[in-house]
Amino acid sequence: MKKVIVTGGAGFIGSHVVEELLRCGYTVSVIDNFSTGHRENIAGLPVSIYNFDVTNPDVMDLIVSLQPDYVIHLAAQVSVAQSIQDMLFDEQVNVRGSLHVIKAAARASVKKVVFASSAAVYGNPLTLPVTTEHPTSPESPYGLAKLTVENYLKLFHKLYQLPYSILRFSNVYGPRQDAHGEGGVIAIFADRLRRDLPPVIFGDGEQTRDFVFVSDIASACVKALNAEKNICVNVSSGSSITINRLLQMMKEISGSSVNTVYTQARPGDIRDSTLSNVEAKEGLNWAPSVGLMQGLLETLQFSHREMFKIK
Ligand SMILES: NC(=O)c1ccc[n+]([C@@H]2O[C@H](COP(=O)([O-])OP(=O)(O)OC[C@H]3O[C@@H](n4cnc5c(N)ncnc54)[C@H](O)[C@@H]3O)[C@@H](O)[C@H]2O)c1
Repeated sequence: MKKVIVTGGAGFIGSHVVEELLRCGYTVSVIDNFSTGHRENIAGLPVSIYNFDVTNPDVMDLIVSLQPDYVIHLAAQVSVAQSIQDMLFDEQVNVRGSLHVIKAAARASVKKVVFASSAAVYGNPLTLPVTTEHPTSPESPYGLAKLTVENYLKLFHKLYQLPYSILRFSNVYGPRQDAHGEGGVIAIFADRLRRDLPPVIFGDGEQTRDFVFVSDIASACVKALNAEKNICVNVSSGSSITINRLLQMMKEISGSSVNTVYTQARPGDIRDSTLSNVEAKEGLNWAPSVGLMQGLLETLQFSHREMFKIK
């Protein structure tokens, strides 16, 4: 059985990736420092768990000793705001930590490194939908770090023939997303609706986003292990929706009649975002399979179930 190391495997996306890998018959090891991930996310699954920080250089020996066939690198400082507040920390985790993982993957001669990159590498879109031909111009240290790691992967391929799949995710949502984290607007709205509190919209709510369900992201990550070429593709729904319409759908599904609060747009927030997923469809033989209505239903059901757990 092929062995896969998943860094950040106890996190929101990571735990879904771990489940998908197990479904596909892989042997899985998780490396996570549990800074934002949770043991419950992968509790009971037949995986080896290493409570380890990717910023610790010893992680390289750990990775090599596990003799992986593949590495899926998801561990990261995931907050855009935090990346601006503390650039050095962001650089330490998202650049240096990633470099440790990539160096070790090269030493272990893995067949593929899959890297979770982000739409943040593009900055403000000049044209929509954004394809990978679009210029990269990050607006945050977070985006810059993702782009830097992409470039390290390309360099490692030149120097050491390390195969890579770079996946640029749009806005991911689904069960287990942290409502207190950054950017998870659907998780935040679900949490507000569950507590019967008014959701807050920054700006007029007519800004658009491309939301992709987490199980579709997980299947793309697993398919990316066996991509024939080195690829850099967007993984997205390929369509977008306004925040107003999104909230309306969530209110309808949950039967909530709570008011919405509008407040000032946040400086730096982009107006519109849609990522083309044509290249992922071709390069990975992948397509998103969960529509927004279905995904929101599953997300709200999960949020609701959590409420009963707390009671
Ligand atoms: N959620 C999104 O919409 C989105 C969009 C684009 C890209 N991404 C990327 O996907 C990946 C997963 O994000 P997520 O949304 O699941 O967030 P998450 O916070 O749930 O997952 C990150 C995981 O990494 C772990 N981690 C953080 N720092 C670590 C360190 N120094 N050493 C070891 N483990 C560490 C955390 O404990 C957590 O389990 C990240 O690389 C993120 O940048 C996410």
